[in-house]
Amino acid sequence: MSTLKTEIYGISIDSPVVVGACTLTSRPEKVKELEKSGAGAVIIKSLFEEELQLERYQLDEQLEKYNDLHAEMITHFPHLEHAGDSAHLQMVKKVKDAVSIPVIASLNAVTMNGWINYAKDLEKIGVDGLELNFYSLPVDNKYTAEDIINRQVEVIKNVKEAVSIPVGIKLSPYYTHLTSIAEKLSQAGADGFTMFNRFFQPDVDIMSETESVTFSFSNVQDDLLAIQWIALLKDQLDVPLTASNGILDYEEAVKAMLVGAKSVQVVSALYKNGTEQITKINQGIEKWMELKGYNQISDFCGKMSKDNQRDPWAYERVQYIEMLLKKGSFF
Ligand SMILES: Cc1cc2nc3c(=O)[nH]c(=O)nc-3n(C[C@H](O)[C@H](O)[C@H](O)COP(=O)(O)O)c2cc1C
Repeated sequence: MSTLKTEIYGISIDSPVVVGACTLTSRPEKVKELEKSGAGAVIIKSLFEEELQLERYQLDEQLEKYNDLHAEMITHFPHLEHAGDSAHLQMVKKVKDAVSIPVIASLNAVTMNGWINYAKDLEKIGVDGLELNFYSLPVDNKYTAEDIINRQVEVIKNVKEAVSIPVGIKLSPYYTHLTSIAEKLSQAGADGFTMFNRFFQPDVDIMSETESVTFSFSNVQDDLLAIQWIALLKDQLDVPLTASNGILDYEEAVKAMLVGAKSVQVVSALYKNGTEQITKINQGIEKWMELKGYNQISDFCGKMSKDNQRDPWAYERVQYIEMLLKKGSFF
């Protein structure tokens, strides 16, 4: 009898299929359904500090309008204050209370105090772990690439000092030297990495000549970037890796685990095929393990990582050059 027990960010889970941060995981009823379908854990929709800052700014603007009123009149209005992160915390608490699988909160802050204080607030709610979402576009030339990395290292150090639950990082693929960054972040305390975040990209409408915000889900083969990088990083890092972005069915999940991922995150798969896709992915993995004679994920996890490959260069440049040299037979 095979078992699908594994881990994410050092947290034990009964299935490698983890629901990634999205709107579905902010609804307690939906999260119950995800648990019933066999999800190993859920990552709750992120708390975005920028969103709270914007709300606070809008509230200040509203209050500003009352400034011209007579003082006596103002006293008739109840004291208004921005609720801070309390609405998000309430939602997180409801989700946590609704299920018994691990619940991981996701955080994307702007200021160092934001990273630290929101992390503490989320820990107090009782979540099982935190995922730091390092999602930002570096466009300010005041900062160098090194400044950005150093800042991220400081963030993980400070958050780890502030809380005692596991803290993982959802990484962007857009670093110049990903292996070095991952090593630095891991030395600074990261308990694991999810590879990769998906960046939503604005499009251009050529008729109206305006910018349009497109919202597209992942497609087949989007997982190949994570597959390559997990294979390369698996033997260099001591922390568990999770594949994300384009894990749509059990084949992608198995591939990710063969190269070294201990778990996978799914989002588009659920929007495209419903929550029952989790059951299908779990069943697919189990059937494949049975066929191959594997009893547990550790029997095959990392079997195809870079160091375990017959051709250790398979994930690097040589493979690409060989393919181009043989182009006559390909194209
Ligand atoms: C509707 C929706 C909402 C999302 N919200 C968040 C979020 O709050 N925080 C986050 O880190 N990622 C968020 N994501 C990104 C997903 O967690 C995930 O990284 C991305 O969809 C790639 O995974 P997939 O290929 O399984 O869809 C969201 C994605 C979708 C589709």
